[in-house]
Amino acid sequence: MTDALWYLGRGSGVVSLVLLTVVVVLGIAGRSGRSIAGLPRFAVAAVHRAASLLSVVFLAIHVLTLLFDPYAQLDVLALVVPFTAEAQPFWYGLGAVAFDLVAALVVTSLLRHRIPPGIWKRLHLTAYLAWPVALAHGLGSGTDAGSAWMPVLTGLCVAAVAGAVAWRFSPRFAESGSVAERRAGALPPDLAGSGPTPQAAHVLRGRENPCDVGPGARRTTTAERAAR
Ligand code: HEM
Repeated sequence: MTDALWYLGRGSGVVSLVLLTVVVVLGIAGRSGRSIAGLPRFAVAAVHRAASLLSVVFLAIHVLTLLFDPYAQLDVLALVVPFTAEAQPFWYGLGAVAFDLVAALVVTSLLRHRIPPGIWKRLHLTAYLAWPVALAHGLGSGTDAGSAWMPVLTGLCVAAVAGAVAWRFSPRFAESGSVAERRAGALPPDLAGSGPTPQAAHVLRGRENPCDVGPGARRTTTAERAAR
């Protein structure tokens, strides 16, 4: 039973990290306003959201299984208060920091419609911090860091996020991306015929950020966006 908890704890940690990587990459990609891998913009936003929820589910499995695994020597406090674990306080502490940051991201995303857009956007940038902290935690505390596949997987995650961040800050991101065009009042390319249905296009016209999906999403007008 103890071994089962340990395997589940490790496996769910790895899956959570991979999903967190997908979330960061799609979050950046969604800001470009373009279709990604044939997915229209609203689908990129939906996958971003679904991957983030799934990542939180695997994170919950990760911390709960390791809480009951006697070898990890964790208590509830160590899950949320960084650097208080009995064993490996630094590396497990980084896990707790990542956990707190992810929790803050989830809560502020759920309350998004109550938070002024500018503040919400800044809070959401916490994702850029949560990801590398979680990555360092996995490498520092994981049993599998010594195996061949874990560093390879970590390298792929780093390459994916580094590539997305480099693209984000390159001139190409905004130049032909539709964020600038939408600010100027033009329609994004995926709304110009081959993209989503007229209904989806209607909904998209009111959105600046790909996280604006779902019943709680705040619909902004073109005029509001231009004023930001
Ligand atoms: C976003 C948050 C987190 C992510 C993405 C994450 C991810 C990971 C990953 C990838 C590993 C390596 C697994 C392996 O070697 O196969 C790991 C190990 C571990 N994590 Fe986390 N973790 C997070 C939060 C936490 C928290 C809050 C704790 C509790 C303080 C924690 C406790 C542990 C422990 C004890 C291990 C070592 C498991 C072993 O014996 O190999 N993690 N984590």
